[in-house]
Formats: sequence, C-alpha cells, structure tokens
Amino acid sequence: MKNLILYGTTYGCTEFCANELKKKLNAPTDCVNVSQAAGVELNAYDTIILGSPVYMGQMDKHLKAWVNEHEQALQSKRVAFFVCCGFPEMAQKHLEANMPKSLLNKAIAAECFGGKMDISKMKFLHRLITKMVAKAAEEEGKQQPQMILENIDKLARAING
Ligand SMILES: Cc1cc2nc3c(=O)[nH]c(=O)nc-3n(C[C@H](O)[C@H](O)[C@H](O)COP(=O)(O)O)c2cc1C
Repeated sequence: MKNLILYGTTYGCTEFCANELKKKLNAPTDCVNVSQAAGVELNAYDTIILGSPVYMGQMDKHLKAWVNEHEQALQSKRVAFFVCCGFPEMAQKHLEANMPKSLLNKAIAAECFGGKMDISKMKFLHRLITKMVAKAAEEEGKQQPQMILENIDKLARAING
C-alpha cells in the first residue's frame, strides 16, 4: 500500500495541508506538487489524493490538466479529494464543476480544509480581490476564511480505513 498526495498551490496553504495530511497517513506517502509531477509513476501507488485551492471558482489548472490526462488510469485506484478555499460551503460545488464526475463518484472521501488568505504574500490583483471579499464578508456578518484543520484528520481516517 502506498499513497500519492498530488496538489496544486499558489500561496502555500494547500501545500501546508498536503504535508499535514501526509503526517497522518499510515501507509508510506509521497507528497508531490503537480508542477513537479512529470516523473510520477502511477503504478507505484494504490491511493491517489488530489488537493487544490480554489481561485474565482476554479481549481488549480495544472492539477485539472493532470487529472484529465490520467482519468482512465485513476479509475483503478482509490481516489480521494481535498479542497482549500475560503468558503467551505461551496467546496462540493467546486469539485463538481472542476473534476471528472467518474472520479468524484468513486472517491472514497472528499473534504474541505478551509483556506488561508495571507495578503502579505499576494500579488497586487489578488490582494485587491481579497480585501474586497473580506470587506463584503464583514459587512454581511460572515466569518472570514479560516482553515478547518480537523477535516485533515477526517480525511486521514477515511484513507487509513
Ligand atoms: C484572488 C483570490 C480568489 C479566490 N477565490 C476563491 C473562490 O472563488 N472561492 C473560495 O471559496 N475561495 C477563494 N479564494 C480563497 C483561496 O481558495 C484560499 O485562500 C486558499 O487557501 C488558497 O490556497 P493556496 O495558498 O494553496 O493557493 C480566493 C483567494 C484569492 C486570493
């Protein structure tokens, strides 16, 4: 039994979550940024865990491309998903809009780990959007985006069986 966690990330939240998840998995686990996935040998793994942030409703484009390319091969694997995003109530919708239905239907689990918005790291446009979204959330009395670390444990339990 061997796990692969394959993730995309822009500012590091999803990468952090991928590494936290790795620590909680019982089987040997490789944790790979999808931008470095060229040499990954899928045959080496039983379980593939796919993780992505959401930007303007879109999951990581490199992860999406990789998943589309390997959709057939993934059919014979245990597959799980996690999403990092600011509005967890939308996570399932984002998965449905961005990932193949065939894989979502067979997934052993899918969790949202919430999100982190560190404006000091962001490029100008992202900083601007984040400030606008944060202001709107505040005015509507909504909670600011935060991480849901307990869902990392939840996903780990589902994968460990
Ligand atoms: C410009 C921008 C757009 C975002 N769009 C969405 C969105 O459409 N839906 C959502 O739930 N979260 C959204 N987020 C929140 C991110 O998904 C969240 O910050 C996530 O943790 C980023 O992960 P990363 O650091 O791995 O890139 C957005 C954040 C930024 C900065």
